[in-house]
Amino acid sequence: MDKLIIKGGKKLTGEVSVSGSKNAALPIFISTILAPGLNEIRNVPFLRDINTTIKVLESLGAVVEGNGNIVRIDTTHVNNVEATYDLVKTMRASVLVLGPLLARHGRARVSLPGGCAIGARPINLHLKGLAALGADIRLEHGYVEAKAKRLKGARINFDIATVGGTEQLMMAAALAKGETVLENAAREPEIIDLADILNRMGAKIEGAGTDTIRITGVKELAPVTHDVMPDRIEAGTFMVAAAITGGDIKIRNMKLEHLDALVFKLQDAGVEITNRDNVVRVKGPRRPRAINIKTRPYPGFPTDMQAQFMALMCVADGASVISENIFENRFMHVSELLRFGADITIEGNTATVKGVKKLSGAPVMATDLRASASLILAGLAADNTTEISRIYHLDRGYDSIEKKLAGLGADIKRVKES
Ligand code: EPZ
Repeated sequence: MDKLIIKGGKKLTGEVSVSGSKNAALPIFISTILAPGLNEIRNVPFLRDINTTIKVLESLGAVVEGNGNIVRIDTTHVNNVEATYDLVKTMRASVLVLGPLLARHGRARVSLPGGCAIGARPINLHLKGLAALGADIRLEHGYVEAKAKRLKGARINFDIATVGGTEQLMMAAALAKGETVLENAAREPEIIDLADILNRMGAKIEGAGTDTIRITGVKELAPVTHDVMPDRIEAGTFMVAAAITGGDIKIRNMKLEHLDALVFKLQDAGVEITNRDNVVRVKGPRRPRAINIKTRPYPGFPTDMQAQFMALMCVADGASVISENIFENRFMHVSELLRFGADITIEGNTATVKGVKKLSGAPVMATDLRASASLILAGLAADNTTEISRIYHLDRGYDSIEKKLAGLGADIKRVKES
């Protein structure tokens, strides 16, 4: 397995370009099941989760060419309706094939994803929504067995503004008979990107990006070409990298408007952020101010930026309170941050971070995707050397992050773990 070696203390400078969004690309890849034929998806990041999604699509009968930048997905012969446990357990987003298979073939057998490091992450709202569209849903031997002659439009109100649930039901309803209304729908930009490709395929979806989405079912969808939106969490991670090192960087190919909540909090912490001709400049302060955050569904502060922001608060001037309101176990980076000399205490879903003047480099271990990013950020700011093991977590969601950070002047390299 690989590990990262970081010699901290360098102020980041220069320019970096953001890759396509993992959390947009995964549902977009899966949506091609609804449009038999050759779909071309562009601006695709090179990630482990993209490779896993390709394996899932191929196991269903798709023919896929490429695994990054431009990926061609021919779903003409998607005739297998079973997504097996060995694939779904490596990437829970695979459960999103349920709705499209049901809509296209009238049946699907998909493994339940099981929990993950950051929480139980049930899919009860996905299943409740599909049942509301008329699907017969059974749980047997760890699999969801779903059947429906033809899905029928319905009014669905989500107890929680679930991103995956919204995506699942938007895709299933696209071919249902009649109108579906999703209330308390998730409003993330990735939902808008998915609705864009579905509408270009011939779907009739209105309101994506708001909490009420209307889908008028159509008979069939046709294959298209689509450019994936930029990865707002990768962009946010680079913004925090500039902030924590007191650096001054420019970020290309990002949409600043996708990160309002993060931008306001970084500016409160003393970070200068300007946007000129679609190039975002981020200038870190000598020392960040301590700021409180609460993670919320979009447009609130993104849970996927909580670990990275916590790393910044570890060196802030003062104490900050960070509450995680989306997932029940998303503080696993705390015990590793403590190894850098951070001062953090946890009470339920709230962490209190007392900023220290300097972190000291240490050997640490990645536990999940965004925790890995948080450890890199701490390593960039710490003195001496930091070694981060188990970075396969990182490779799920960041495309060559060590190369991009090295391009900004960081002393970071990937080595084989002996
Ligand atoms: C998506 O996960 C993202 N993943 C996550 O990013 C992100 O953290 C999350 O949305 C929230 O923004 C992808 O898009 C591939 P949810 P998802 O359904 O869809 C509960 C990353 O780091 N819930 O919005 O699984 C659930 O347990 C990843 O890139 C139910 O109870 O998130 C959680 O507490 C991590 N029942 C909350 O809702 C359900 O049926 C939000 O989950 C569905 C969800």
